[in-house]
Amino acid sequence: MPDAKRIDGKALAAEMSETIASETRELLEQHGIKPGLAVVIVGEDPASQVYVRNKKRRAESCGFNSVQHSLPADVDQDSLLALIDELNSNEDIHGILVQLPLPSHLDEKTITQSIDPSKDVDGFHYVNVGKLSTGDTDDAFIPCTPAGCMLMIRRELGDDLSGLSAVIIGRSNIVGKPMAALLLAANATVTVTHSRTKNLAAVVREADIVVAAVGRPEMVGGDWIKPGAVVIDVGINRVERVVDGEEKSVLVGDVNYAEASEKALAITPVPGGVGPMTIIMLMHNTLRSARAGLAD
Ligand code: GUN
Repeated sequence: MPDAKRIDGKALAAEMSETIASETRELLEQHGIKPGLAVVIVGEDPASQVYVRNKKRRAESCGFNSVQHSLPADVDQDSLLALIDELNSNEDIHGILVQLPLPSHLDEKTITQSIDPSKDVDGFHYVNVGKLSTGDTDDAFIPCTPAGCMLMIRRELGDDLSGLSAVIIGRSNIVGKPMAALLLAANATVTVTHSRTKNLAAVVREADIVVAAVGRPEMVGGDWIKPGAVVIDVGINRVERVVDGEEKSVLVGDVNYAEASEKALAITPVPGGVGPMTIIMLMHNTLRSARAGLAD
């Protein structure tokens, strides 16, 4: 089955952005509420700087009040907690995100759990994790990357994934585990694989839905893919490649796109697949939070 459909996350995110921007205008006109998103970044990690810049741009294009707090790499934990406390009680802020990873002297768990669950647009607080894992998906803030993946899967296969087998590669708290909860809630039969899984290729070969989130460049080859599978590539890996005789730094996913697209029904590219969808789900969560106080 050559030439799988290329799932265009960039176009889908742009489309969703229009809808969010129009709902944001309405919220402001009818209720005087402008969604406020605060993004906190600690240190100078170049990849994090790019992600945060993209989030800010998208928040502005949606008409949000976008606030960025850039703290030095050596900021002490109490100062960071004090800032979060301030944002928790700021009525103009509806969503708070602390960009991860944090420098090693800061305790990621303490920081993420200090965010008010009602403003936890990343979905990392245990209250939201608990809601998602008990199937209370309508009430929880869902972590943005798996939420974006799920939206793309549903567009290809419908809302009910009964009878379909899903294999997730990677068991992280940010992607693998919440992805498993979402797929289960949609009635898929879910397998979560990781670095200790035996015969990984054979396990993946059984999957109607593959979600690759391991951070290993092009680890998933075309011969791992069941014909007709939907393949979602969460990996963003920078590698050196010779392009037109010149060594260049390029982004590739965890899946070998050229090979897998010979087999799959549909597949996300890197870049332009999961990345833009992650950001738009953050805007979706923030708008939802801003609306939370309104009667239905
Ligand atoms: N770093 C990489 N992905 C994420 C994410 O989804 N949220 C936060 N806060 N940090 C990240």
